[in-house]
Amino acid sequence: MLELKNVYGGYGKITILNGVSFAIPSGSITTIIGPNGAGKSTVFKAIFGLLDLHSGEILMNGENVAGLKPRDLIAKGITYVPQGRNVVPQLSVYHNLEMGGITARDQAAVRERIEVVMDQFPTLRQHRDRKAVELSGGQQKQLEVARALLLDPKLILIDEPSIGLSPNLVQEVFRTLTRLRDGGVTVLMVEQNAKAALAMSDYGLVLELGQTRMHDRAETLLADPRVGRLFLGGAME
Ligand SMILES: Nc1ncnc2c1ncn2[C@@H]1O[C@H](COP(=O)(O)OP(=O)(O)OP(=O)(O)O)[C@@H](O)[C@H]1O
Ligand SMILES: [Mg+2]
Repeated sequence: MLELKNVYGGYGKITILNGVSFAIPSGSITTIIGPNGAGKSTVFKAIFGLLDLHSGEILMNGENVAGLKPRDLIAKGITYVPQGRNVVPQLSVYHNLEMGGITARDQAAVRERIEVVMDQFPTLRQHRDRKAVELSGGQQKQLEVARALLLDPKLILIDEPSIGLSPNLVQEVFRTLTRLRDGGVTVLMVEQNAKAALAMSDYGLVLELGQTRMHDRAETLLADPRVGRLFLGGAME
């Protein structure tokens, strides 16, 4: 569904991505792991049209989408949940959801879609009139994911969803992503929490110095001593 072919790009004259290549199949969860500064978030910016590409191709269902703007990529079914907290703290849950559809022409359709999305997230329905800041960290991440779903994406890029969350909430957010995958949405995520993330993923990818170092089934990476040593605290050795 998504394929990067030899993607080079960076910020100004600095090259960060040095030939990133990988393909992910539709209906799967793939986790990208790698050291700080490896270029993981930069890969997402490249896919979502937020980075100057020097060369390479980004194919979405066979069509080269490199160079398109975020709004065109959204129309092609790609959505992006950036690293960090992205809800508007003083707005209600409902108004945060509305913002996910702010670019849509048909606002009546957006309101219908909010109902559909709230059916998938009963906690958000329960707290629809509360300020986003009053939700727990995990609920706020769910709100970000729910908002990303408003335009009915085929592919969701989610950057470090578990950061700052307690282990319980991490599992809750991961369950949300598994549910999306089971509903047919393709998930590409970046995670520092490598062990837990690979455990719930279909595929894993190791990025180092702006290049794809390893790409395999998640269980294969989990059992690989090199991955264990570098990213799983040596736990797998
Ligand atoms: N807006 C920017 N302008 C210039 N350089 C940047 C910018 N954003 C990131 N970089 C640089 O690009 C490199 C890769 O950054 P990136 O955020 O992609 O890493 P990452 O793998 O996501 O790291 P982390 O695990 O810390 O989130 C780093 O050296 C960083 O300093
Ligand atoms: Mg990052």
